[in-house]
Amino acid sequence: MKSDLLNLTEDQRTIRDLAREFAKNEIAPYIAEWDENAYFEPSIVQKMGDLGFLGMLIPEEYEGLGLDTSTYLIALEEIAVVDASTAVLMSVHNSLPTQMILRFGTDEQKNRFLPGMARGEILGAFALSEPDAGSDAAALTTQAVHEGDEWVLNGTKSWVTSGNHAGAIITMARTDTPRDRKGARGIGAFIITPDLPGFHVGKKEDKLGLRASPTVQLTFDNLRVPATNLLGLPHMGFVYAMQSLENGRLGIAAQAVGIARAALEAATAYAAERHQFDRPIREFQAIQFKLADMATRVAASRTLLHAAARAKDRGENVKQATSMAKLFASETAMFATNQAVQIFGGYGYVKDYPVERLFRDAKVTEIYEGTSEIQRIVIAREQYHEHR
Ligand code: CAA
Repeated sequence: MKSDLLNLTEDQRTIRDLAREFAKNEIAPYIAEWDENAYFEPSIVQKMGDLGFLGMLIPEEYEGLGLDTSTYLIALEEIAVVDASTAVLMSVHNSLPTQMILRFGTDEQKNRFLPGMARGEILGAFALSEPDAGSDAAALTTQAVHEGDEWVLNGTKSWVTSGNHAGAIITMARTDTPRDRKGARGIGAFIITPDLPGFHVGKKEDKLGLRASPTVQLTFDNLRVPATNLLGLPHMGFVYAMQSLENGRLGIAAQAVGIARAALEAATAYAAERHQFDRPIREFQAIQFKLADMATRVAASRTLLHAAARAKDRGENVKQATSMAKLFASETAMFATNQAVQIFGGYGYVKDYPVERLFRDAKVTEIYEGTSEIQRIVIAREQYHEHR
């Protein structure tokens, strides 16, 4: 693209170039095979940790890079252009578990987890959804019961990104009692580690896209968690999760921008090479209009995303802005990858070219970390709020 409209600083360019090089050398050569075999390459985590990509928002006192949100999202977009699977690992780790420990954890919890998370030794995951609690996340039923110095957890968590490789899984569980349900205000957040007795990794999902990123079910069978692993207040876990999903949704928006940009770049190159009716197909307005719409929506998504990120770093209320960014960017990813497949024609439908993978990868951005319908609900509620 001619202009990304972001006016990057020198440091941001350096980090963008580092992410671009890493993705080009360490991921691009393998991604078709990983996608085909639904294979997750564990060494990627350590490599990302060594380069600082897993501690981008963690302050330097905990061995992170302590960067602003925009710089983190620039790096994330570069990774997503090459591989959306690696991007979701990076997004979840940086946006959810590390941020939850940083914002709501005790000094002891921060010292115990954050340096290892920044270095890539402890991969983070986030477990909110359950088989029967998706969009209605507050309806979760995993139960935590306080017994002495421990909490005992029973239940099943679904759709946990990196859940079978994670060393710290922030898990939301009910802390109210079946006799006295308190809805969204009866949920706690716990730092679960896989060594705890009663922790079981269940089904690994066989997915349409993001096949190089493992998504698993986790089951807790009388899982005993030390009370020192409770994050913040025992009834505030849902609110913490919602606040943190504002970061998460920015990460998914950056991932979606990356997928859309990859589709745009692939389609632009192909339209120059492919000849039909004695000329490159980019000379036809039907193709030009598609590329123009794709480029415009990518630029608009990125602009909205970074406006939200900067507002967040200024400490403003970004509940609506983060949902807008996620909604618009994920619908752009779906739009752009669909157009790219159309421009490639039959070649867009086969695995010889990357656009069929981009098309499959794009879809989940409209689903996870809140579906597009949930983002619209959040946006509309904030709109009513303003006019109350
Ligand atoms: N910041 C601060 N507080 C917030 C908040 C936010 N962003 N969002 C909600 N809250 C607070 C509310 O103020 C409310 O507090 P009070 O009790 O004081 O009123 C409380 O949390 C409950 O909120 P709601 O009344 O809005 O709750 P709700 O049940 O109506 O649900 C919802 C709201 C927006 C639908 C929410 O359930 C939601 O976002 N659902 C989607 C779930 C989701 O995004 N899941 C993604 C899972 S992670 C994932 O995808 C896996 C992965 O690894 C990638």
